[in-house]
Amino acid sequence: MKLFRGFLTLFIIFCTLQWPSLAINSKKSYIVYLGGHVNGLEASEIRESHFEFLASILGSKERADEAIIYSYDKHFNGFSATLDEDAAAKLAEHPDVVLVFPNKGRRLHTTHSWDFLKLESNGIIDSSSLWKKARFGENIIIANLDTGVWPESKSFSDHGYGPIPSKWKGGCENETSVPCNKKLIGAKYFNKGYLATYGSMGMNSMNNARDHEGHGSHTLSTAGGNFVSGVSINEVGNGTAKGGSPRARVAAYKVCWPPTLLGGECTDADILKGFEAAIEDGVDVISVSLGGAPANYFDDAIAIASFHAVKKGISVVFSAGNDGPLPETVTNVAPWVLTVGASTIDREFQAFVELRSGLRLKGLSLSKPLPNNRLYPLISAANAKAENASAMNAMLCKEGSLDQKKVHGKILVCLRGDNGRVEKGKQALLAGAAGMILCNDKASGNEIIADPHLLPATHITYADGLRVYAYLNSTKEPLGFITHPSPVVNIKPAPSMAGFSSRGPNMITPEILKPDITAPGVNIIAAYTQDSKSDFPYNIESGTSMACPHVSGVVGLLKNVHPDWSPAAIKSAIMTTANSRDNEGHPMMDETKSTANPFSRGAGDICPNRAMNPGLVYDLSANDYLDFLCAIGYNQTMVQKVSGHRYECPRSNNSILDFNYPSITVHKLSGTVTVTRKLKNVGKPGIYGVRVRSPVGISVDVEPKVLRFQKKGEVQKFQLTVKAHGIKVIKDYVFGELAWSDGKHLVKSPIVVSVA
Ligand SMILES: *[C@@H]1O[C@H](CO)[C@@H](O)[C@H](O)[C@H]1NC(C)=O
Ligand SMILES: *[C@@H]1O[C@H](CO)[C@@H](O)[C@H](O)[C@H]1NC(C)=O
Ligand SMILES: *[C@@H]1O[C@H](CO)[C@@H](O)[C@H](O)[C@H]1NC(C)=O
Ligand SMILES: *[C@@H]1O[C@H](CO)[C@@H](O)[C@H](O)[C@H]1NC(C)=O
Ligand SMILES: *[C@@H]1O[C@H](CO)[C@@H](O)[C@H](O)[C@H]1NC(C)=O
Ligand SMILES: *[C@@H]1O[C@H](CO)[C@@H](O)[C@H](O)[C@H]1NC(C)=O
Repeated sequence: MKLFRGFLTLFIIFCTLQWPSLAINSKKSYIVYLGGHVNGLEASEIRESHFEFLASILGSKERADEAIIYSYDKHFNGFSATLDEDAAAKLAEHPDVVLVFPNKGRRLHTTHSWDFLKLESNGIIDSSSLWKKARFGENIIIANLDTGVWPESKSFSDHGYGPIPSKWKGGCENETSVPCNKKLIGAKYFNKGYLATYGSMGMNSMNNARDHEGHGSHTLSTAGGNFVSGVSINEVGNGTAKGGSPRARVAAYKVCWPPTLLGGECTDADILKGFEAAIEDGVDVISVSLGGAPANYFDDAIAIASFHAVKKGISVVFSAGNDGPLPETVTNVAPWVLTVGASTIDREFQAFVELRSGLRLKGLSLSKPLPNNRLYPLISAANAKAENASAMNAMLCKEGSLDQKKVHGKILVCLRGDNGRVEKGKQALLAGAAGMILCNDKASGNEIIADPHLLPATHITYADGLRVYAYLNSTKEPLGFITHPSPVVNIKPAPSMAGFSSRGPNMITPEILKPDITAPGVNIIAAYTQDSKSDFPYNIESGTSMACPHVSGVVGLLKNVHPDWSPAAIKSAIMTTANSRDNEGHPMMDETKSTANPFSRGAGDICPNRAMNPGLVYDLSANDYLDFLCAIGYNQTMVQKVSGHRYECPRSNNSILDFNYPSITVHKLSGTVTVTRKLKNVGKPGIYGVRVRSPVGISVDVEPKVLRFQKKGEVQKFQLTVKAHGIKVIKDYVFGELAWSDGKHLVKSPIVVSVA
């Protein structure tokens, strides 16, 4: 599994290429999934049965004891174990075994954002805000499966909190190292799967949930961190940090450890154990900002684990991945989870480059300002190369490539690429530069990032970089300045889709649109580790990892306002009320400057206040998800085992087209198909009329055109007849929209059609 944060992208690509070819040793760790639990057995009996079962395969109890990593004895039935290939194959053929999957490694995928999402306005919280109505998420419990937590962060202080909710069954492991309190009520760690796969990697502090990375503290505080005032980075952007459910209780489940070149930092065996612990502990929301390559449901241990969580009424929220803008990259696509893409907000930390020629170029930065208000000499790093270095390495400001005598006291111009952005600044500082201008290379184009560099610095686009290099060429004594970084809000247009956010179509089930929803994931400030690697208690990060906990926080609020809603109802409310326009009223854009389609934005950008009162929802039960698995071709035997109870696949009329998803996708349309949906009234009685924007070349007819709801809870059916016109559809996919409205609510669904 990988954490879905932006700046790891290069590393991720590197490692993904390495992964398939490397064998670690002849024995590997596997997850043996036996399905849902049959009621009536004690956990100890189940554990015992796992050992006995494995002993029968391996030939002795001792071998089984040695092999088993975890026994999953609570909410899903199975175990993980270190096995040779023969034993794994034998298990896979056993009639009691649903599936055996290799213990895959995954990777991790960063607060003005709440103002932008209209939960507050310039720090003022209106009485109609979901925050007020939901008592800021009070007593909701949010779990985060990630790199752990920095427990001393103010975001997790329990000042002003009452007793821990009585339903809480969790707690903290190794409290001497990671002390919990009435806000941070859980901190557990799961490392056996990682150790079995990668070994200890020479680490000595693997027995607690402390976050040495920063990612886990960042995501957890974005979902449920306190209001913390006076947060700034390098004294830029002094503001109040807070999570989506700022009064929620939070629990960290550390399942990710330092990255390895062998594949990942989080393993399925540990993630599954984390899921099991979170379900057992009594959490309301599980937030997971990590993932691997998309995989079939019965090949994806965390899809199965999240099904068991959702079945218990827990909402599960995942990041979509950072492999955009390439299509077919979205991961974590199970229909029972919320899959979240990343968008921008309307704030930038701007620091301009000023050249003596009169040019003024916008850059982004969270760095310290230059000490003196005067022009500084500029030098291209290529001209500052050390004698033994190559011009290319110098241009990129790589370690050991710069000549201190040439750099000293000047603003160094470095080119993006190869080594990290902050690393370039470090080399510039070591060489004695007064400041740094970081210019994008062609590949990174317009994507610029406000980093907290170690020296005064700013980051400019490729086009502006060329202007700086041209100026350097044009004069013997180039001079320039970097202005004091400062936050600018109301940037337009916003939101727009982040380039890195993974895109559909969904490679596993093309009939389900993914991602589902978009939330802020670019330049997000939240809590961080205070380990030696960080100078700041709060840090700025980008990635779908940062978008995911925004949605988790909002789910926490909705659970307080609507405790009786299913995870599917909450998801529907979030999706059908989403915003697909930007703050100029235009359709939301992609960073490529084209209109963002549902494959990048899903239903659109989350709109918390509207999600509180959607009018109607597309509801789904755990049984509907089982029907879905039958509809996509899994057989009775398999699906029955997952269910853990008596279950039979529907004998007829079980078309995936009728799966009551809040978005509508018709894959490989030929001729005419009908799509059925059911809407449940969660508001006042009302009369809803329909409006359809048909995809180009497709006709969509809805019957009935009016739905009358006389009471809350009432369900009404409607059908869409989708037909391809005779004319040739030029594109692979075409997009439209379905909307029901009673004049007060607008219940919108994206329509996606591909033609056979
Ligand atoms: C708790 O964490 C500390 C610091 O990593 C470690 O030295 C200690 O062994 C851990 N305690 C237990 C009981 O695992
Ligand atoms: C940040 O703002 C708060 C209140 O507006 C103020 O008390 C504090 O001194 C400021 N901190 C910095 C570093 O400017
Ligand atoms: C060049 O020489 C310096 C000083 O001897 C050394 O620190 C640096 O690593 C060398 N650089 C390269 C690229 O070999
Ligand atoms: C600047 O001059 C160098 C060396 O003559 C040349 O390679 C480069 O293309 C020039 N850059 C620009 C932007 O004019
Ligand atoms: C159900 O599917 C599994 C896995 O594809 C297969 O091994 C099994 O034989 C199938 N069972 C039936 C009854 O078709
Ligand atoms: C199945 O669909 C057909 C055609 O739409 C309909 O006539 C029939 O009543 C449906 N059967 C069930 C059990 O819903």
